[in-house]
Amino acid sequence: MKLVIAYIQPEKLADVKQALFDVDITKISLITNALGCGSQKGFVEEYRGVSVEVNLRMKVRLEIAVNEDYLEKCVGAIIKGAHTGSPHDGKIFVVELAECIRISSGERGRLAVG
Ligand SMILES: Nc1ncnc2c1ncn2[C@@H]1O[C@H](COP(=O)(O)OP(=O)(O)OP(=O)(O)O)[C@@H](O)[C@H]1O
Ligand SMILES: [Mg+2]
Repeated sequence: MKLVIAYIQPEKLADVKQALFDVDITKISLITNALGCGSQKGFVEEYRGVSVEVNLRMKVRLEIAVNEDYLEKCVGAIIKGAHTGSPHDGKIFVVELAECIRISSGERGRLAVG
C-alpha cells in the first residue's frame, strides 16, 4: 500500500479529480490548501513600491491511499490533470503505507484501502 501526496496548482484541482475518477479512483482522504515552495525558492514582488520576497506559493495538497496495482494509475491521473509543462505544476510524493483499517468492518490492509 502507498500513500500518494501531491501538491498541485489550485486551479487544476477539478481536472485532477476528474482524471482520478476516470481511472476509478474515487477515494481522496484529504484536500487542503498548502503554502510552500519548490526549487525556485519563491519570487520577488513589488508591493506598494517596495520589493518583497515572497517565499511561499499557494498549492492544493491531496492525499490518496492506494493498493500497489493502482499506484501508476493514480500518479498518471494526477499528472494528466495537473500538467501544463510550466514550472510550478507541482510535485508528487509516494510513501510506503504500513496499514489501513476500515473502522466499520475491522478489515485491514488492501481490502480496507479498497
Ligand atoms: N522537496 C520538497 N519537499 C517538500 N515539498 C516540496 C518539495 N518540492 C516542492 N514541494 C512542494 O510542492 C509544491 C510545488 O512545487 P513546484 O511544482 O514548484 O516544484 P519544483 O521542484 O520547484 O518544480 P518546478 O521546477 O516544476 O517548479 C511546492 O509549493 C511545495 O509545497
Ligand atoms: Mg517550482
